[in-house]
Amino acid sequence: MSNNRVSRRQFLGYTLTGVGGFMAAGMLMPMVRFAVDPVLQQKGVGDYVLTDQAVSEITEEPVRVDFSYEQVDGWYTSDVTNSAWVFRDGDKLIALSPVCKHLGCTVNWGGDAEHPSQFFCPCHAGRYEKNGANVPGTPPIGPLDEFDVEDQDGFVAIGAVKENTLV
Ligand code: FES
Repeated sequence: MSNNRVSRRQFLGYTLTGVGGFMAAGMLMPMVRFAVDPVLQQKGVGDYVLTDQAVSEITEEPVRVDFSYEQVDGWYTSDVTNSAWVFRDGDKLIALSPVCKHLGCTVNWGGDAEHPSQFFCPCHAGRYEKNGANVPGTPPIGPLDEFDVEDQDGFVAIGAVKENTLV
């Protein structure tokens, strides 16, 4: 008889340890993947959303351009609808965010009959100049944000939102 024989007790110990290890790995792997997966996903940073607004129709008068895109937030995906006020400044396209810097209402171009060449927020009568600068003495405390914008095959494409560079 060899001294290397595995006893029944040892065999059971090895077997249970192996089976337990496989079961633990089977439970932990999906959890680890679930936790790490969003980190491994490629981000769409810098992506532009193509709108159906023809660049040729853009003038120096701001027009509202609506656009929608799929937003991925961690594990949650949703369809987001947004809009921008787009106008031309010489050869350059400008796109401003419609979100008021006071409490987040939506501003309109020429919404106040007394100030037809300004953005107007109907919530608390906030006003902004055409370049997005907030009018002193009205509630907003900063300029409207700006979107990256470009001409893609003749149509307006809206990119990431950023701080206003025109003010
Ligand atoms: S939310 Fe726009 S002025 Fe208050």
